[in-house]
Amino acid sequence: MRLLQLGFLIALASGLAAILIYITGVSNLYYNRISDEDYEALETLQGDFRKCVSANGLGLEAVSGKDYCQVTINFPKDTVPKWRDPTTGELESLSFDFNLCEAVAAWERVRNSTTILTKEYIDALPSGWEEYAWRRINKGVLLNRCENKTLCMEKLSLVLPETPPYFPRQFGRCAVIGNSGDLLKTKFGKEIDGYDVVIRENGAPIQNYSDYVGKKSTLRLLNRGSAKALDKVVELDETRKEVLIVKTTIHDIMSKMIREIPIKNPVYLMLGAAFGSAAKGTGLKALEFALSICDSVDMYGFTVDPGYKEWTRYFSESRKGHTPLHGRAYYQMMECLGLIKIHSPMRSDPNRVVKWVPSQNTIRAARVASQKLLGMVGAGSSNPLSSCSLIKKRVKRKPASISRLKKTAIKHQKYVKGTTMYPLENSPGHGQLCMVPA
Ligand SMILES: *[C@@H]1O[C@H](CO)[C@@H](O)[C@H](O)[C@H]1NC(C)=O
Ligand SMILES: *[C@@H]1O[C@H](CO)[C@@H](O)[C@H](O)[C@H]1NC(C)=O
Ligand SMILES: *[C@@H]1O[C@H](CO)[C@@H](O)[C@H](O)[C@H]1NC(C)=O
Repeated sequence: MRLLQLGFLIALASGLAAILIYITGVSNLYYNRISDEDYEALETLQGDFRKCVSANGLGLEAVSGKDYCQVTINFPKDTVPKWRDPTTGELESLSFDFNLCEAVAAWERVRNSTTILTKEYIDALPSGWEEYAWRRINKGVLLNRCENKTLCMEKLSLVLPETPPYFPRQFGRCAVIGNSGDLLKTKFGKEIDGYDVVIRENGAPIQNYSDYVGKKSTLRLLNRGSAKALDKVVELDETRKEVLIVKTTIHDIMSKMIREIPIKNPVYLMLGAAFGSAAKGTGLKALEFALSICDSVDMYGFTVDPGYKEWTRYFSESRKGHTPLHGRAYYQMMECLGLIKIHSPMRSDPNRVVKWVPSQNTIRAARVASQKLLGMVGAGSSNPLSSCSLIKKRVKRKPASISRLKKTAIKHQKYVKGTTMYPLENSPGHGQLCMVPA
């Protein structure tokens, strides 16, 4: 009897295992073992990271947390926090915990994925129209989960390209410009105009401020408020060539303006699924977008230097709902993971070298280790498509669009075999949606 039960259990277990292998993919089980080298890679990363924060953080210190992934970034004890949480009334903390493993895995992946919402993405998602698309339309609640798909498609049509308009690494050096009042302390204008691509935010003006913020403007990211004033926003760039990327939903007012004014600038919606609600801040969204299309990303006017007085905009006084110290610590983490370079009044030398940035090899090894620790789909595999938990064949793509790209972008396209990778919200194992060429 016992034996029979045992036999039954074994049969059941192997059945379950077979199902599990079927679901997760054999490769995952095989690659997911975490080796001593993996732990060493994370230790090396943490070591370099701590040195980097000390060397570049203007007083910030990083200390290791309770495991290989956790770090805490501390401000000097005499820092005076100025920002109060409007709901709790509490002053901002001087100490912030970060998970380096999550950061290194997620941000590196951003570099290889697309962050513009496309029709092929919605079509490829299981019930993409019912579950996703209607949430990107301002009157989504009234659309009854896109019961009438024609109507939903109509609402999105002005901002929904079939395939992504940009490729990973399409552009060389990019600058992301925030709206901080600190920008008026340094004349960064000429330097900013020297970048291949300049990305701005919301209603940030150029006119009358170009000594400080430059004249060039390639792309602009818009929150809901700015997007509703689309007619005013397009006037900020005299060339009317700026590409507008809306971070929230498409609004009927916007559609009307695009049609009737008419607004000739390309307008798209940002996908922004990679970090979910964890990265709502405008700065992080802008960096996410920039990292998905640029070789290198430099940041101006997003972060505060020590001893900051007030968190204002360079073109107006008030500004609400920000966590400047948390932001500064987070951006310092990104700089010390080799993702961005920070420019600020106290770091204004354009040739400043970010010391102790972990090497490419260290980052690569730590990313593989992190992917395994986090149980990510395809962790440790060298196949670029191993992170795809959902693979679909692409319907069409404008011919010859790839051949016009610069070398690094073409090289990347070869590496991913022409696949477009999209982040998936709440996907188990952080799997991606991949569109492969037909
Ligand atoms: C769906 O929406 C389209 C476009 O607005 C409209 O012409 C059509 O009548 C609607 N269909 C139904 C069944 O309501
Ligand atoms: C620039 O200054 C002029 C003159 O003061 C003013 O009329 C104009 O509105 C300003 N432009 C912006 C974008 O602030
Ligand atoms: C992203 O693509 C590059 C090649 O362009 C590759 O070396 C790298 O491993 C990829 N990163 C991830 C996280 O897949």
